[in-house]
Amino acid sequence: MLSAAQFLGGAPDAHESAPGRVNLLGEHTDYNDGFMLPVATPQRTEVALAVGRDGDFTLYSANLDSTVRFARGAAAPPGFGSYVEGCIRMVEGEGITVPPLRVHVHTTLPVGAGLSSSAALEIAMLRALRSLLGLPFDDIALARMAQRAEIQYAKVHCGIMDQMAASLANRDHMLFIDARSLAHRLLPLPAASELIVIDSGVARTLAGSMYNTRRSECDAAARQLGVPRLRDVHDAAMAEALASPLRERVRHVVRENARVLEAAGGVDARRFGQLMNESHASLRDDYAVSIPALDVLTDLLRAQSGVYGARLTGAGFGGACVALCARGMAAAAGQGALAAYNAGGMQGRLLIPVPNEKESRDE
Ligand code: GLA
Repeated sequence: MLSAAQFLGGAPDAHESAPGRVNLLGEHTDYNDGFMLPVATPQRTEVALAVGRDGDFTLYSANLDSTVRFARGAAAPPGFGSYVEGCIRMVEGEGITVPPLRVHVHTTLPVGAGLSSSAALEIAMLRALRSLLGLPFDDIALARMAQRAEIQYAKVHCGIMDQMAASLANRDHMLFIDARSLAHRLLPLPAASELIVIDSGVARTLAGSMYNTRRSECDAAARQLGVPRLRDVHDAAMAEALASPLRERVRHVVRENARVLEAAGGVDARRFGQLMNESHASLRDDYAVSIPALDVLTDLLRAQSGVYGARLTGAGFGGACVALCARGMAAAAGQGALAAYNAGGMQGRLLIPVPNEKESRDE
């Protein structure tokens, strides 16, 4: 594995980083123009880059110990390079010339665990290009460009939550986001609480195809209800006129938005935990994006002392679960739930609190 200095042959011309995200409430609401409450992860992705001399883009992933190279007019091969290429093309799409680059990528985020390592890479890369080229884009503009890069180059038809979180969230606050207006504000976590995040160890195999199915179901339901987006349905009873499964999908989105608004209004940790439990049940029963492993893991988390509530986080079909816990009890509760989960033959891992984390905090 090469360090940035080894790969770049000296100091970088720009060096930036961005976090992943854990969503606390508001799942599958972003593409319905709704509300959500993500938190940034302590784990981050770093991009160090230098202007190259050979006319190509040469990218190195320290985690994969792998180099990809593509000519300035050509496409990157699939993989981490396509995210980086997408960011370069978005900047070029604004009429800006991007010089040939050597790009070193390193992450402490688990890839494929549902903490949006892709959004972290996109925002870190766009920040590095912004600082290298002195670009006038603000953090929301970066989030929009990152989302377009993901849709067009990684071919994932995502909403904007992950990129907004990677661009604007921090690890000590929840970022309230209105996906329609992109209005956002940082809110404190419920008093005297902290988070537990456990990767279920189950790869999100169906995530892509089922994600697109859910999106089209929501669009079809909005059309049938005569509203632009499901955000505009305020009364869950309206859903009852629809046939199954659209009825259940609308029910989830309307109630999930209401949960986010209640939590953002300020609730104690106990109520917040109840809202998380309700969110999980709704994702399991009405939105149908949970799997047995996530149901087991959230039950085990809820059974630990100090835990207020737990739910799957992210798109579902695998990935991670998040729990809210009394401050000071997260490490023990996380280890307890993990031991019981892995005793059933699973390969979960504790992601937050970060095992053996030094007292180094992001700025
Ligand atoms: C993925 C997508 C997000 C969001 C979540 C579900 O993480 O990238 O835009 O839709 O799923 O809430």
